[in-house]
Amino acid sequence: MPLDIVVGSQWGDEGKGRIVDLLAAEADMVARYSGGDNAGHTLTVAGRIFRLHLVPSGILQPHVLCLLGNGMVINPARLLAEIEQLQALGILVSPDRLKLSSAAHIITPIHVALDSAEEAGRARGEIGTTRRGIGPAYADKAARRGLRAGDMRDPGAFGRQVQQQVQAGVDLPGSQPGLPAPHPVEAGRTYAAYAERLCPYLADVGEIVYRALEAGRTVLAEGAQGTLLDLDHGTYPYVTSSSPTAPGALLGLGIGPRHVRRILGVAKAFQTRVGSGPFPTELTGTEADRLRGSGENPWDEFGTTTGRPRRCGWLDAVLLRYAVRVNGLTELALTKLDVLSGIESPRLCTAYRAGRERFTDLPDTPAYLADFTAVYEDLPGWADNLAAARAWTDLPPAARRYVERVEALAGCPVSMISVGPQREQVVPRESGR
Ligand code: GDP
Ligand code: IMO
Ligand code: MG
Repeated sequence: MPLDIVVGSQWGDEGKGRIVDLLAAEADMVARYSGGDNAGHTLTVAGRIFRLHLVPSGILQPHVLCLLGNGMVINPARLLAEIEQLQALGILVSPDRLKLSSAAHIITPIHVALDSAEEAGRARGEIGTTRRGIGPAYADKAARRGLRAGDMRDPGAFGRQVQQQVQAGVDLPGSQPGLPAPHPVEAGRTYAAYAERLCPYLADVGEIVYRALEAGRTVLAEGAQGTLLDLDHGTYPYVTSSSPTAPGALLGLGIGPRHVRRILGVAKAFQTRVGSGPFPTELTGTEADRLRGSGENPWDEFGTTTGRPRRCGWLDAVLLRYAVRVNGLTELALTKLDVLSGIESPRLCTAYRAGRERFTDLPDTPAYLADFTAVYEDLPGWADNLAAARAWTDLPPAARRYVERVEALAGCPVSMISVGPQREQVVPRESGR
């Protein structure tokens, strides 16, 4: 009856999607539990690249039932477009394979407009959101005036609610002049049409997950974003508006902790971030360019959702230890180890310094990261191309040492290492224990 949770250990884009795609081979269901189409999960299977934003990363495994949990915020236009794109690629996406929680919240055009307006008006500068309306939709949820997916069961009434909500937003005294305001009547009409099309997908996702777990099936909870983007536990206010951490999987699916088995944190072998906010191990210039890549490889560090170049730096083991604690990680998947090949001396951040003080663990929440300077340990590099490695012994000794050092510093075992974006480019760690 296991529930396995896959969660991002850093600032997102760790490679969660490709790990979920792999683990889904052994699962019966894959469920997204937080965020919305701010996520971009890339799967590379048989040389084809699939970029998913809302549909769970189990969709390429034909036997898997995919679920969108109550913790999510759904833009119906984006969901329908993604379903159509997948169908055009020959992937079966039907109400038999995809279920949408009636309790998930709906992103409307006013949320998208407000996201941009709020960014422009922030006193502390932009957060660098994906401008998909995520923050405003969660704000309406918390203020108890949001629209939920279940409201789509009456498309006419739903359309009228959307129209009213958009009208209320347009009438807000603080509305930014100059921004394209959505048209309330038009929004109501299109959303009523979306409701007609999405109604067949509606379900009580918590009930489906519970029944499956009680019947001994395996459910995989797919995290979006990452630990350091968590509304409570991340680098506030430079965070998203949901709970991407592992406990968020329980709230975002409507299930208690009893069934949890594995809690797998996905971590890149280095560190990236899109958007603003503190980043103690950030590199600039040619060192950052080396980690980011020039953009010629599909895996180079440019955002899946917005195309923005990602900020890059060395792996931060202080924050990784924090992710182990906050999520209760049972294991780590270390991705993109191949990218470090050819770097003479990769570095790991083992501690922080602030004035005369040295910290190996965060003295306070990550909101105050800007106060710290990273302390590094330099490791020997390796020149070998890792793309063909499939067993621990295929990795050069220096790469193995790097992984072992990450395990020791994080205080958590690494269970798999990925050496390329393809489904099969994974090295199980147990082959070397
Ligand atoms: P997610 O949001 O956590 O699912 O990650 P993204 O898909 O946004 O970003 C990860 C990127 O790295 C994608 O382009 C993946 O195809 C790619 N990727 C994942 N694992 C590896 C790996 O081990 N090596 C390389 N070179 N690329 C990888
Ligand atoms: P995946 O699932 C990386 C970041 C945004 C911004 C902050 C708030 O692909 O790992 P939002 O639009 O959520 O209000 O933006 O969060 N962000 C992500 N960064 N990967 C993601 O998702 C992200 N989702 C949001 O860049 O800094
Ligand atoms: Mg991503």
